[in-house]
Amino acid sequence: MYNSVKKYLKILVLASAAQGLFISPAYAEEAGHYGLGRIATPEEIAGWDIDVRPDGLGLPAGSGSVADGEGLYEGQCASCHGLFGEGEGRWPILAGGFDTLSEGRPEKTVGSYWPHASTLYDYIRRAMPFTAPQSLTADETYAITAYVLYLNEIVDEEFVLTKDNFSTIVMPNADGFFEDDRPDVRNPTCMKDCKDPSSIKVTSTIAGVTPTEHMEEGASNMTEEAPINEHGKGIYNQSCAVCHNNGMAGAPITGDKEVWADRTKPGMEAVINRAINGYVGEDGAMPAKGGNMSLSDEDVAAAVHYMVEQSQ
Ligand code: HEC
Ligand code: HEC
Repeated sequence: MYNSVKKYLKILVLASAAQGLFISPAYAEEAGHYGLGRIATPEEIAGWDIDVRPDGLGLPAGSGSVADGEGLYEGQCASCHGLFGEGEGRWPILAGGFDTLSEGRPEKTVGSYWPHASTLYDYIRRAMPFTAPQSLTADETYAITAYVLYLNEIVDEEFVLTKDNFSTIVMPNADGFFEDDRPDVRNPTCMKDCKDPSSIKVTSTIAGVTPTEHMEEGASNMTEEAPINEHGKGIYNQSCAVCHNNGMAGAPITGDKEVWADRTKPGMEAVINRAINGYVGEDGAMPAKGGNMSLSDEDVAAAVHYMVEQSQ
């Protein structure tokens, strides 16, 4: 298929060459390739071409000090990002967060996360202040960049950032990134005896999305005498533990003998039906199937059995 496209293109080029229709730059400037638009002027291209690379390529001439940056930052950035980069309200935090990257809630800031200072210059130059992007001069951008680096304790208060010393800045997390050389997808083509597409079911679990250690902790006060109902346990951990381990939203806690002795008085069938269909009780709302409608009634029943077993 590619070959035939190539052949077609070749013929087209030959044909237009034969007719003397090669599009000359002068012609293109007037009408463009398809007779539309015009070639961008060097000034227009320069206006778009403002990216800065990690080695400093793309930086404009200029410089700015931490001292100058302080006033500019306080006037133009602090209302959103906080006087010390701590972030006002829910605006992004720009400073601090060191050594939090491996924690459950990493605080990713310029200082703790960004591997290259060039991103900072580039971002401010391109997009900030939020309401007036690209309103800063090159020198102002150098000064504010220096000040944000200072807020992150990467440079000292005497520092003057210039086009020439830019590439000497080493960010704390410079080594935290690596090239992921795995292929994007693993998709071996199946040519025979392939799975019936209609049999493929998409499911999701909480595991891997939300840290689940706290659930395991809650589970540790459960007794483990009886042989564990593995199916029910799996369903429970996936769809019920989030509320029933800790009593979230008023859910009766799995393992609480008294509560469950009381609740199972009407009989297992009644309790299971409530779990399947959902209901609003005195303590809160139990969503039908715990909100996971992909569960079968049997799955929910297994989970309820597991909960009750763990509460005896
Ligand atoms: C009106 C509020 C506002 C002001 C003023 C403002 N910013 Fe921002 N800033 C934002 C918002 C919102 C974002 C996030 C934008 C996004 O994610 O698309 C942001 C993102 C940033 C980021 C990237 C943060 C990250 O971790 O992704 C930097 C750096 C930054 N701003 C610097 C500045 C500087 C320097 C100034 C002053 C020249 C400034 N901002 C002024 C609202 C503001
Ligand atoms: C969003 C939180 C939440 C999730 C998720 C959840 N529950 Fe509940 N569940 C509750 C609340 C709240 C109650 C108590 C309602 C009341 O009685 O006021 C409850 C009550 C129950 C009861 C007691 C019924 C009775 O008759 O007293 C059972 C059994 C139950 N849930 C099973 C499950 C099962 C099985 C799952 C998972 C498939 C699950 N729950 C998921 C919140 C939740």
